[in-house]
Amino acid sequence: MKLLEIKNLMFSYNNHFNLEIEYLYLEKGEFVSIIGPNGSGKTTVLKLLTLLEKKKSGEIILFDKEIENYSKKELFKKISVVPQEFFTSFDFTVEDIISTGRIPYETLFSKDEDIIIKTMKKTNTLKFKERVYNTLSGGEKQRVMLTRALVQNTDILLLDEFVSQIDPGYTQQLVRMVKEESVKNNKSVLSIFHDVNLASLYSDRIYIFKEGKIKYSGKPEEIITEKIMKEIFDIDCIITEHPTKKKPQVIFEY
Ligand SMILES: Nc1ncnc2c1ncn2[C@@H]1O[C@H](COP(=O)(O)OP(=O)(O)OP(=O)(O)O)[C@@H](O)[C@H]1O
Ligand SMILES: [Mg+2]
Repeated sequence: MKLLEIKNLMFSYNNHFNLEIEYLYLEKGEFVSIIGPNGSGKTTVLKLLTLLEKKKSGEIILFDKEIENYSKKELFKKISVVPQEFFTSFDFTVEDIISTGRIPYETLFSKDEDIIIKTMKKTNTLKFKERVYNTLSGGEKQRVMLTRALVQNTDILLLDEFVSQIDPGYTQQLVRMVKEESVKNNKSVLSIFHDVNLASLYSDRIYIFKEGKIKYSGKPEEIITEKIMKEIFDIDCIITEHPTKKKPQVIFEY
C-alpha cells in the first residue's frame, strides 16, 4: 500500500534551482533512502513534504489526500521529521524540544510523560533531559531530534542525514532502531544519506538524485554500481558485496 506519492512535481527557488520529480513513492513499512550530491534537491523534497515550501505544480498525495489539504496538526500525526539542521534561539531544554513531538496529539488532559521517557531511554538522551538544547554537541543534538521524531509515533518518518554527526557506535544503534521501527512496527522511512554504504545496507529501495531530478531508482543491488557512482559523485571506487547481507558496498579506490 502506497502511503505517499509524488507525481510530476515542479518547484524552484527564484528560478535558480529547479526540482522536477516525475514519480516517487513510499509504501507501508518500507525503508527508502535518497542519496545524491550536495545541492541536488534532497532536503528540498523533505521541505515540500512538510509544507515548509510550496510546490509550483504536481501532486503530493499522502494517504489518498493532497498534502496541501492537511492542517499542520493533521499532517504531523502522519509525518515526523528529523531535519538536517535545527536552530532555536531560545534556551529550550532537551525535554522541552522532545515534548514538542507530542503537540499534534495534545488535548487538555493528555499526559505523554511515559512515551517520552521510554523513548529517551532508548536513544540514551534521558541523561541530558534538563540540559539546554543549544549547549549539546552536534551528535547529541541529532539524537535529541531523532527522539522527538520517534515520540511523535507517525506512520512516516522523514530523516535528513540523521546520523551525519554521530559516532560509529550510536550510528549503528540508531539506524538499527529506525530499521526496527520499519520492520516490526510497519513504519515507513524516507531517509537522506551521504553514507552510500549505510543506505545500501538498510534500504529496500534507493532514489539517486542529481541536479534536481531522480536519475536512478531501484534496489541497492541494481543501482549501487561503479559506473553509477562515477557518474553521480565522480568517485573512483570498487563495489564489493557485503559478506553477510549481500548488499553492495562502496570502497574508495584510493
Ligand atoms: N531557501 C532557499 N533559497 C534559495 N535557494 C535555496 C534555498 N534552499 C536551498 N536552495 C538551493 O537549492 C539547491 C538544493 O538544495 P537542497 O538543500 O535541497 O540540497 P541537498 O541535496 O539537500 O544538499 P546537501 O547534500 O548539501 O544537504 C541548492 O543549490 C541550494 O543552494
Ligand atoms: Mg540537504
